[in-house]
Amino acid sequence: MPDDLASRAAPLSSARPKAPLAGTIRVPGDKSISHRSLMLGALAVGRTEIAGLLEGEDVLCTAAAMRALGAGVERRKDGVWLVDGVGVGGLAEPGDTIDVGNSATAARLLLGILATHPITCFVTGDASLRGRPMRRVTEPLSRFGAQFVTREGGLLPLAVTGAANPVPIEYALPVPSAQVKSAVLLAGLNTPGETTVVEPQATRDHTERMLGHFGATVRIEPVDGGGKRITIVGQPELKAAPIAVPADISSAAFALVAGLIVPGSEVTVEGVGLNPSRTGLLLSLKEMGADIAYLDERVEGGEPVADLRVRAGSLRGADIPPERAPSMIDEYPILAVAAACAKGVTRMRGLAELRVKESDRLTATATGLRKCGVKVAVEGDDLIVEGTGGPPPGGATIETRLDHRIAMAFPVLGLAAKAPVRIDDARPIATSFPGFIALMNRLGAGFPEIG
Ligand code: S3P
Repeated sequence: MPDDLASRAAPLSSARPKAPLAGTIRVPGDKSISHRSLMLGALAVGRTEIAGLLEGEDVLCTAAAMRALGAGVERRKDGVWLVDGVGVGGLAEPGDTIDVGNSATAARLLLGILATHPITCFVTGDASLRGRPMRRVTEPLSRFGAQFVTREGGLLPLAVTGAANPVPIEYALPVPSAQVKSAVLLAGLNTPGETTVVEPQATRDHTERMLGHFGATVRIEPVDGGGKRITIVGQPELKAAPIAVPADISSAAFALVAGLIVPGSEVTVEGVGLNPSRTGLLLSLKEMGADIAYLDERVEGGEPVADLRVRAGSLRGADIPPERAPSMIDEYPILAVAAACAKGVTRMRGLAELRVKESDRLTATATGLRKCGVKVAVEGDDLIVEGTGGPPPGGATIETRLDHRIAMAFPVLGLAAKAPVRIDDARPIATSFPGFIALMNRLGAGFPEIG
């Protein structure tokens, strides 16, 4: 979102609907898979057709970036995106700064690709992204021979000059981050020899899967403690391959939790991607007693999907272990909303990474719930929410802090609260879930349309 629009905030108010939520919707395509399909399509030889691409601001930034770097990227009238790739190592220097808006996935994965292209690029983003740590990628990418000039603290904007003669690395991730893992693997793509990433805890594996889909050789071995050792053989010829993007479980999460906490509701979300590295929320909600059915389980475009049907009912508190965090890292704000409506204490452990998301999401979630009259504590990196089993008080205005997940979680809370909940700015929602308001309204949420 351009900063000069920051003064034109679009508040949104949410209140208990007159009737239970009901109906079937399909939410937009998976954000992680969408970014990767554009990037790998741009590095493949031939034309990649992408069906179901998420057309949110974040992904559109990646589309523009790949176009600026020389790939052909266009949307056909039927909504299928066509990417004409330039081949591994074939990207060209862009004539201007690349602005990836709010998207850390775009920034970090792109830096991985650029690190082993012998060109210079200037990369920036919005106010939220300019405050987020980039050293976690510039540090390992420098080891390939790339050079970075960043703002103090390793922040964007930055300039990168990729290595002309990159050397492969072996890198142990210091934080469980799919973005850092992917940045290193993508740098390894145009590096002779084998590049290895060791992750202590398994994180989403869409990059590895898609690299294989495009014909790269990727070896994956388990390591003690639940992690993986992932090796990519450098400088393959990637071949264009069709992609069908499943619906994003991280977007479906809002409709599902709404269906669980608004009494009497029954909601179905179709074609939701159920990659096991992404399903921690469903597991956690089930432990809280949620009624969730997996209907018509199938495989689409190489990813497991199902239609998810939820029925409202009473939820109870649960203890969510830290090792589950990578598989539901974007879902804690909405899980905390479910916890606020559950009976008893929910302890969500090991959430350090939430502090470096689009906002400090640990603080934003805790502060927002507290303003809505919910009992909340933060102990170290744990978030503790105590629900009464009845509707939370609500009646507050929540700052969304350029964070789309906060901007969707609190209107969902408003649907179950005693008094309406207002967010100060709904515009960040467009980064990941265009159509959120209209789809929720199709279920009966009654959100006012924003201009
Ligand atoms: C993403 C990884 C996660 C997640 C983000 C998307 C990805 O970030 O929060 O929304 O597509 O790889 P981290 O890798 O920083 O945990």
